[in-house]
Amino acid sequence: EKGGFETFMEKEIHDQPQAVQDTLLGRTDASGALVLDELRIDPEELTQVTKIIVLACGTSAYAGTVAKYAIEHWCRIPVEVELSHEFRYRDPIIDEGTLVVSISQSGETMDTLMAVRYAKEQGARTLSICNTNGSTIPRESDAVLYTHAGPEIAVASTKAFLAQITAAYLLGLYLAQLNKKLFSGQIKDILADLGEIPGKIREILDGAEDVKELARSMADATSVLFLGRNLGFPVAMEGALKLKELAYIHAEGFAAGELKHGPIALIDDGQPVFVVMPSPMDRHSLHAKVVSNIQEVRARGARTFVVAERGDQAVRRHAEVVFEVPETQPVLMPLLTTVPLQIFALELASAKGYDVDQPRNLAKSVTVE
Ligand code: F6R
Repeated sequence: EKGGFETFMEKEIHDQPQAVQDTLLGRTDASGALVLDELRIDPEELTQVTKIIVLACGTSAYAGTVAKYAIEHWCRIPVEVELSHEFRYRDPIIDEGTLVVSISQSGETMDTLMAVRYAKEQGARTLSICNTNGSTIPRESDAVLYTHAGPEIAVASTKAFLAQITAAYLLGLYLAQLNKKLFSGQIKDILADLGEIPGKIREILDGAEDVKELARSMADATSVLFLGRNLGFPVAMEGALKLKELAYIHAEGFAAGELKHGPIALIDDGQPVFVVMPSPMDRHSLHAKVVSNIQEVRARGARTFVVAERGDQAVRRHAEVVFEVPETQPVLMPLLTTVPLQIFALELASAKGYDVDQPRNLAKSVTVE
């Protein structure tokens, strides 16, 4: 059942190309236009949406941040992302133009379910991005977009995360298509690039020896920082969460731009810092800014481990180690840059002899508030 792997987590990390591929499958018609019939919401209604609120917890909420960046960029609809348990109790502003998109692997997370129920009561349309057929959250939502990652057994989420991001991209492209915010040719190009992601994830999995070796050498680490900017920010948060959950190491992710506003005080000799690089092609030229962050932490003694695009020559001079991922368009990078961080956490936890499928104190599905 573990498909020849020692743990479910390792298997599920290797299932990711398939998870992304299956989530993309059957979502277009003969002309290449997106069709999301299963959504069960009248497309006309979706064109009335003036605001999107994404609700989720944990890893799923990081997928939500990726969704925000992509949907705002493509559709020009404002998107907020909020932790379900915070949203529910703060008197949020919701109206008929609000589309609430919940993201949940299990579809049973009580915090998210309560938030969705609340949003419905307030008159919002609700759409569930979910990995579990027939679970409670999609049943109680107006619409559902299933991720097809297959059952996720390991407690820490991996393949569901990439499938959630993939589904969020599909939703964003679909809204852009309905609202005519992108030309059909642009949508096809992005879908074509998405179609190449599974093969690129496979390349990362096949070339992961460096990251595994680094992880094994770091079994004594007591704190690891992760920084990223723009779409690299949620990836950094996810890298830190995986390390906490699996290896019980203090890990913190933060937005690279925040460094000088406080966290840089943590840096001293030998502090390990992972950096998720933006694409060198990023339209805001954030690349150079993150390179300076690397220089700033290195100057204070940090060890820098950088996840960057293969074509990124400029970062090589500045980092101690670079883990390369294949090139893709900037918006799609989280589907690739996440993978080395998952492998790092898995390998480090395994080196410490921990049960990576059942980390202490955690449950796969959190059905209490
Ligand atoms: C992290 C993890 C959790 C879940 C969170 C939400 O590895 O698994 O943070 O992402 O509990 O769960 P779902 O997606 O089932 O609502």
